[in-house]
Amino acid sequence: MKEDLTVRGMRDYYPAVFSRLDHIVQAWRKTALSYGFEEFDGPIIETLELYKIKSGDEITSQLYNFKDKGGRQLALRPELTPTVARMVAKIQNEAPKPIKWFSIPRCMRYEKPQRGRLREFFQFNVDIIGEDEGLSDVETIGVAIDSLVSLGLGSDDFVVKINNRDFVSGYFEQIGISEERTTRLYKIIDNAGKIDPSVTDQQIEEFGLTKDQRRALEQYLAIGNTADLEGMKYTNRGKEALLEIFSYIDSAGFGQFCALDITIVRGLDYYTGTVYEIFDKGERMRAICGGGRYNHLLREFGGAEVPACGFGMGDVVLGEILDKKGLLPVYSKKVDCFLVRITEEQLPYLLEAARRLRRKGHVVEYAYRPLGVKKQMAKASKSGARTAMIFGAEELREGKVILKDLSSGEENTVELDSALA
Ligand code: HAM
Repeated sequence: MKEDLTVRGMRDYYPAVFSRLDHIVQAWRKTALSYGFEEFDGPIIETLELYKIKSGDEITSQLYNFKDKGGRQLALRPELTPTVARMVAKIQNEAPKPIKWFSIPRCMRYEKPQRGRLREFFQFNVDIIGEDEGLSDVETIGVAIDSLVSLGLGSDDFVVKINNRDFVSGYFEQIGISEERTTRLYKIIDNAGKIDPSVTDQQIEEFGLTKDQRRALEQYLAIGNTADLEGMKYTNRGKEALLEIFSYIDSAGFGQFCALDITIVRGLDYYTGTVYEIFDKGERMRAICGGGRYNHLLREFGGAEVPACGFGMGDVVLGEILDKKGLLPVYSKKVDCFLVRITEEQLPYLLEAARRLRRKGHVVEYAYRPLGVKKQMAKASKSGARTAMIFGAEELREGKVILKDLSSGEENTVELDSALA
């Protein structure tokens, strides 16, 4: 056999695989539309510069980038948020606010392929631009939750872990950790919920804190729920925003799906206020979804300071979870009617009927080669069609055809016009 020419980390979407993706994509699209979001898309290729502005080291190290024939430095999109910011910055003066957009782009990241992580994936993006109210964060969280619920998942299956970057940065600032050092501390905290606690302890040790700072950090990491948050003396606008968001979440009936998790800080550099990630409860895979507020990103693209928030949800981890729980539909090709001719003389009638039925929205097939009736009927059964429409010279002389129900075997001779109506 020849060597496998498939590129590592890429997927081949055979029809059965494609139908699983389509099932997820349809649930995403339907949910976003039900919240009043409009669908859009951007280019697959952007300038390399776009991602260097504010996405952060992690994502820029994972870029598929290249020089085109004109010497331009370009990249395949690893995410959509910089594209959203670039596109909105161009129209922000005339566009009525809030802008509520969603998109389901194919993204590329040069990551080490592993479970739940590929080099090519689809990512549901939902963003609200031009609104700073906490209710808009809750609205995006609602889309994420409802799309998972519409796919059959419940609060036993996933949790939305929510935090606020202003709360974290304010807390560190008041315990005397400089802004430059907080980035490293964010990474340690971000990992804290995902790795062995002894490794986190060692990382904190190496980071180098005074005794008081260490105690304050331990107190921070001990915050387990909103009651702990309310009970603590320290306050800032991030804390207020968190409490507000959780009260909206409860009123909106999403309380069972959400939890405060102060280890969530997000890897991308552009997040400002509310941040969240969705994890499955059983498998401990990478996040199903990640998002938050990015109030300064549009300014970085030459626009005004416009508040924005949103999330990205990939199809890979989600597909694995749905598969494991038996929530993906079993694939079968859908054919309504298979047309059969007794001889090639009936072919023109058959072709006319096929055209009329298809224009009415029916899925119609027939054999492309001259075949005996038996072989055509075998094809009809194999196609999964519910009905065979049989064209014979005798019946056609009277303007009729035979309809055969392929599951019961029952046959009826009916008027051709009524069969095509
Ligand atoms: P992110 O956390 O980098 O955020 O990605 C969001 C989701 O995309 C992840 O939780 C995961 O499900 C999926 N994902 C990311 N990389 C891969 C990969 N290599 N293979 C499979 N799935 C992957 C963002 O991309 C932000 N731009 C989201 C956002 C939109 N924030 C505001 N608006």
